[in-house]
Parts: sequence; structure tokens; C-alpha cells
Amino acid sequence: MSPPLLEASGLAKLYPVGSGRKRGTLHAVDGVDLVIGEGESMGLVGESGCGKSTLARLLARLVDPTAGRLLFAGEDIGAVPLRRFVRHSARRHIQVVFQDPTESLNPHFKVFDAIADPARRLGSASSTAEVEAKVRRVAGLVGLPPELLGRTRTSSRAASAPGSASRAPSWSSPGSWSSTSQPRPSTSRSRP
Ligand SMILES: Nc1ncnc2c1ncn2[C@@H]1O[C@H](COP(=O)(O)OP(=O)(O)OP(=O)(O)O)[C@@H](O)[C@H]1O
Ligand SMILES: [Mg+2]
Repeated sequence: MSPPLLEASGLAKLYPVGSGRKRGTLHAVDGVDLVIGEGESMGLVGESGCGKSTLARLLARLVDPTAGRLLFAGEDIGAVPLRRFVRHSARRHIQVVFQDPTESLNPHFKVFDAIADPARRLGSASSTAEVEAKVRRVAGLVGLPPELLGRTRTSSRAASAPGSASRAPSWSSPGSWSSTSQPRPSTSRSRP
């Protein structure tokens, strides 16, 4: 049997806060266990400050965990330091899809570079010609006119073009949650 897509155990993120005598530790996420299978999705709800975004950052490997294990398809990705994870084979399979697509695009980037940047960074296209072909193909898939590729997001309003090249992550069933100093989030799950 293949391992779950994503598996966290005892996942924690602690931040040092304050200074001098007021120095302390903020438990943004503390002791999260969850299992998400392929094709499953998970909803996470909870009051402001309970650690939802921090947990999402941990699962997407945008911050290093303070403690705990994080496995992707059975591989321990939580132990790979961030600076090395950028080049890790699992990196291209993990993607954050932002609620507001316009806010997720760098306003200084031309549309071409906004699409080309991940292809270059994740090594899915090596030569300039390959990058260009990929950008044009992806733009075509979402009905983006080629003449907009040389413009920025604001000048082209291209960000509102239908569709996206991004792939939403598939999340699954929750395990148990625990948090010592923060409000406790709750989860819901569904299988498409
Ligand atoms: N980089 C950081 N340094 C220090 N504390 C942080 C940092 N990031 C988050 N926190 C703290 O961790 C706690 C959890 O924050 P987080 O943003 O994960 O909550 P949230 O559930 O997403 O809240 P919201 O619903 O308001 O978006 C908060 O107390 C927050 O202030
Ligand atoms: Mg948040």
C-alpha cells in the first residue's frame, strides 16, 4: 500500500517573542497530527490567531518546523532545511493557490515572467526556448492573448483571465489537533 500523500505528526512552530524579562515563546502551532490522502481535501477553520496560516506555511514548506515530522508521499520533507528544499524533488508538487489571484502576482513582473519564474526555478524547463514555449503553451491553455505577455499585471489586467496554470493541493483526513497556548482549530474533510 502506498503511503499517504501528506502526513504530519507532532508538528510545531514556536516563535520567540518579547525581549528582556518579557521574553517568551509563542506556540503558533503545537503538536499537530494529520493525514491527507491523495484526492482528499481538508478544510481548516478556527478563530483568528489559532495558527491556520502558520500550519499551511508548515505544510507547504514555507517555514521550518520547530518540532515534529512532515512526510510527503512517505518522504521526510520536514527535516530538509528551507534553503535546500527549494531544489527538492517534492517542491514542484506543493503549491499554494491564493484566494485572490491578482494579489498573488508580483505587480513588477511582466505576465511572461510571472508564468516563467516557477518554470525556471523548479527546473521544469531548462533552456530559454523551452521556457518561452512553456509560457506560450500555458497562456494558450487559459485563453491569455500572447500580446499581453509583455505587459505587467496592472497594465494588462491579465490576472483576471479565466483559469490558472496552478494545481490546487489535494488534502485529506484530519488526525488529531492539539495546541497548548492557542485557540484550537477544527477541520472538515471531503473526498471529491
Ligand atoms: N513570524 C511570526 N513571528 C511571531 N509570531 C507569529 C509569526 N507568525 C505568526 N505568529 C503568531 O502565531 C499565531 C498564529 O498566527 P496565524 O497567522 O497562523 O493565525 P491564523 O489562524 O491564520 O489567524 P487569521 O485567522 O487571523 O489569519 C498568532 O498569534 C500570530 O501572531
Ligand atoms: Mg491566517
